[in-house]
Amino acid sequence: MRIAIYPGSFDPLTNGHLDIIQRAAKIFDRVVVAVVKNDSKSPLFSMAERQHLVGRCVEHISNVEVDCFSGLLVNYVERRGTDIIIRGLRAVSDFEFEFQMALMNRKLNERVETIFMMPKDTYTFLSSGLVKEIARLGGDVTPFVPPPVREALDAVFSSTLPQSTV
Ligand code: PNS
Repeated sequence: MRIAIYPGSFDPLTNGHLDIIQRAAKIFDRVVVAVVKNDSKSPLFSMAERQHLVGRCVEHISNVEVDCFSGLLVNYVERRGTDIIIRGLRAVSDFEFEFQMALMNRKLNERVETIFMMPKDTYTFLSSGLVKEIARLGGDVTPFVPPPVREALDAVFSSTLPQSTV
């Protein structure tokens, strides 16, 4: 049974993340989407909210589960009884950081392999950060995120839309 861990902040999950999950689910027996509890960042959505949202967006894929973790990723991967990490690569600009992280994870645990997957080319510009900014400024994020995420963003920002001063 080949289990792959797809870790990330998922604050929030975008269609690009979902595309990677769907591709990984075709290759591996089981894909665990692992939402990180990152205290250093201040996420828009709590870990429980991010986990819940990812869960709603992947409920149609039978071999995908959602979990959360804190601490070192390599320790979590080991606890889950696997050695495979999936990361998405959108563009060359992602490469340097991802390369560094993959090699550091290998240094921490030489059994761990990081596998990079490319999302559909139409998602190469997409990021959770941009999606949040667009939603905060009242833009339409429908093309960029699954419906449960759009609803959650609407709920957060609908009462705080910037008022025009003109
Ligand atoms: O979605 P993100 O924010 O790009 O995901 C980054 C993530 C969660 C994969 C990375 O921050 C991580 O692995 N965090 C866990 C702590 C850890 O293991 N740090 C050392 C990485 S070499």
